[in-house]
Amino acid sequence: MSSSLATVAYIGATILFILSLGGLSNQETARRGNLYGMVGMAIAVLATVFGPQVTAGGIPWIIGAMLIGGSIGLYAARNVQMTQMPELVAFMHSMVGLAAVLVGFSTFVDPTATAGFEGAAKTIHELEIYIGIFIGAVTLSGSVIAFGKLSGRIGGNPMLLPGRHWLNLAGLLVVIYFGGVFMQAHTVQEGLAPIVIMTVIALLFGVHMVMAIGGADMPVVVSMLNSYSGWAAAATGFMLSNDLLIVVGALVGSSGAILSYIMCNAMNRSFISVIAGGFGTTSAGPAAAAMQPAGEVTSVTAAETAELLREAKSVIIVPGYGMAVAQAQHTVYEITKHLREKGVNVRFGIHPVAGRMPGHMNVLLAEAKVPYDIVFEMDELNDDFPGTDVTMVIGANDIVNPSAQDDPSSPIAGMPVLEVWKAKTSIVMKRSMASGYAGVDNPLFYKENNRMLFGDAKKMLDEVLAALKA
Ligand code: TAP
Repeated sequence: MSSSLATVAYIGATILFILSLGGLSNQETARRGNLYGMVGMAIAVLATVFGPQVTAGGIPWIIGAMLIGGSIGLYAARNVQMTQMPELVAFMHSMVGLAAVLVGFSTFVDPTATAGFEGAAKTIHELEIYIGIFIGAVTLSGSVIAFGKLSGRIGGNPMLLPGRHWLNLAGLLVVIYFGGVFMQAHTVQEGLAPIVIMTVIALLFGVHMVMAIGGADMPVVVSMLNSYSGWAAAATGFMLSNDLLIVVGALVGSSGAILSYIMCNAMNRSFISVIAGGFGTTSAGPAAAAMQPAGEVTSVTAAETAELLREAKSVIIVPGYGMAVAQAQHTVYEITKHLREKGVNVRFGIHPVAGRMPGHMNVLLAEAKVPYDIVFEMDELNDDFPGTDVTMVIGANDIVNPSAQDDPSSPIAGMPVLEVWKAKTSIVMKRSMASGYAGVDNPLFYKENNRMLFGDAKKMLDEVLAALKA
């Protein structure tokens, strides 16, 4: 493929990626957005493999690597459970980080990759390698820890080392110092020691950064690592002088940064304070003890729940992570359809951090074919709870916890929540009194107008549907 044809293909792929992002911003156009992305990526891969930068001898290697990588990806995508998607995404981010580190090292040690760079161009190229490896290593180790936290292999409590900010600062200064040593190295042997030291520090920094973040703030970390993986890809693009990789990396990096900003707003956190770590800690102070919920919970049966729904004129359903675990979305849709046919105004309230990944609930509801026009974001619906007869909370916990508003010592204090308790009756569907991801008790369960429907969400909703139809 000639270089001008490859450039045209790159421009086409870039346009498709931008259209893809535009499509993904809305549920109704999301499928089309995905399609644009897939076509764009296919064009990008073909134009790169058959482009001017690859020699004929390299093609069998690339095809072999693509077959192995593609098979692993296909296997993972086919077998992953919907509830494991967040871990899979974190794992993918770590692969992008690893790729950036490996490309950085190989670019540095390969004499043909640096040949032709002189003076300022050489300095810039070395800086790209150094920064690229640094971002890649932070993304790699941070994403591995995020994978561990999201899959429950590592506890959700933040690990707060004494003087952790000083440790981070000292690490940064050492990285800058060795950056200087690296830039002054004349041979590969001289430059290797500083980048190895920097890589080790960057790996430790990634581990430390994510370990210090509490369970409640994990959404920000997920989107932040998403952004880092984009910047790592852009850095790889600089190292390889591949314009498309730079553009795609910048698109992912900046959209991840915007998502982090949205997540921070949703949780009422400042980005810096999340990165500095320590939020999401369970406070053991006296204020927390004083605010411990107390009292009795009132449980109901599926038949009683059906009765409450039958008598309601307006219902708001709030889904959470438990709906994903139970795979209850299809039954939720059946119940919604039944109630709407009886003239009940049914709407869905979606919290921005419900579930374990951005848009988790929207994906599930779309899969179950719930009409988009009855699915609302938290801000659009929060004022409507007082005029609502029944709110049905399905496997959600942290996102409907009133202590976020009432208890300043709570780890989720200040996080906006769906005010389900303001409806005439709220029904919470979950299996036990266990806390949610943030590990915080929920006073909602003890409120006078709240009812608990204990059991697996799918099983209980099947019973509710049967009772409604009886
Ligand atoms: P959670 O607070 O985690 O609560 C989910 C509840 O579902 C649990 O209390 C659990 O109680 C119940 N549950 C689990 N399996 C169930 C089943 N089979 N049937 C019925 N109930 C079941 O979820 P949420 O309210 O959606 O809040 C999300 C939390 O995750 C927030 O703290 C958020 O910060 C965090 N987080 C979010 C993200 C993103 S990006 N969305 C990423 C990482 C972390 P039982 O065990 O008693 O059943």
